[in-house]
Amino acid sequence: MKIEGSIALVTGASRGIGKALVAALLEAGAKKVYAAARDASQVAAGDARVVPVTLDTTKPEQIAAAARQAADVTLLINNAGVQTSSSLLTMSAAEFDADFRTNVRGTLEVTKAFLPALERAAAGATIVNVLSLTSLAPFPPLGGYSATKAAAYSMTQALRAQVKAKRIEVLAVFPGPIDTDMAKDLQLPKASAAGTATQIVAGIARGEEEIFPDVMSEQLGALWKKSPKDVERAMASVS
Ligand SMILES: NC(=O)c1ccc[n+]([C@@H]2O[C@H](COP(=O)([O-])OP(=O)(O)OC[C@H]3O[C@@H](n4cnc5c(N)ncnc54)[C@H](OP(=O)(O)O)[C@@H]3O)[C@@H](O)[C@H]2O)c1
Repeated sequence: MKIEGSIALVTGASRGIGKALVAALLEAGAKKVYAAARDASQVAAGDARVVPVTLDTTKPEQIAAAARQAADVTLLINNAGVQTSSSLLTMSAAEFDADFRTNVRGTLEVTKAFLPALERAAAGATIVNVLSLTSLAPFPPLGGYSATKAAAYSMTQALRAQVKAKRIEVLAVFPGPIDTDMAKDLQLPKASAAGTATQIVAGIARGEEEIFPDVMSEQLGALWKKSPKDVERAMASVS
């Protein structure tokens, strides 16, 4: 889709990749960016095109209010996510539920609330789900989180088929390790949030159904296209 002139909404815009996505969209010429955050006062001010929106993606009343406030959205970016759970063998049920609630249910409920607005977009609309390489194959130390990101990918594919006729594209983003609060304990080379966001916006502009926005995701993405089994082995061997 054409980013110039688009009206975007980014969830989880208070920090990390979401905050960088707001900046990248403005840089690419978006007309308006609704920066949605649990605490809207955390949204970076300074550009008149940014509209802060209060949105906890696990709270139905806030989702409904955000959809009313941002009824002119043409580009929805579901970025909000948590990594509360860890290994399948050690995580608690509550930790697994927390990840599922935001990464899967939150993404779905926000998407459904914004569908009427996206359907109204005269030139077509786009939904972007910020997933993870762990959507394609699990990172075993984070098996719980990986399962929620795999579920979110399945949802992305089902939705893509169901809204195609409404001229809504559904794109998936598969970042590798990115230097944000979420990955602070991960001892791996990490890409910057700013560079990742720029690549995500470029992928949206090209209408890529699978966006691999950093070096590690590009490499594993290329491998996944040839041999998903090799990606499973590669992810299992990372320590
Ligand atoms: N960093 C990585 O290595 C990496 C790799 C692959 C994929 N990802 C994905 O990229 C996305 C962004 O992650 P990040 O790295 O930027 O993490 P982050 O720095 O921890 O930021 C997470 C963002 O999500 C928001 N959020 C969490 N739960 C929410 C909820 N229920 N409602 C609304 N907002 C909520 C947070 O808001 P608060 O400030 O209010 O907490 C924050 O803005 C996530 O979907 C994550 O799974 C990250």
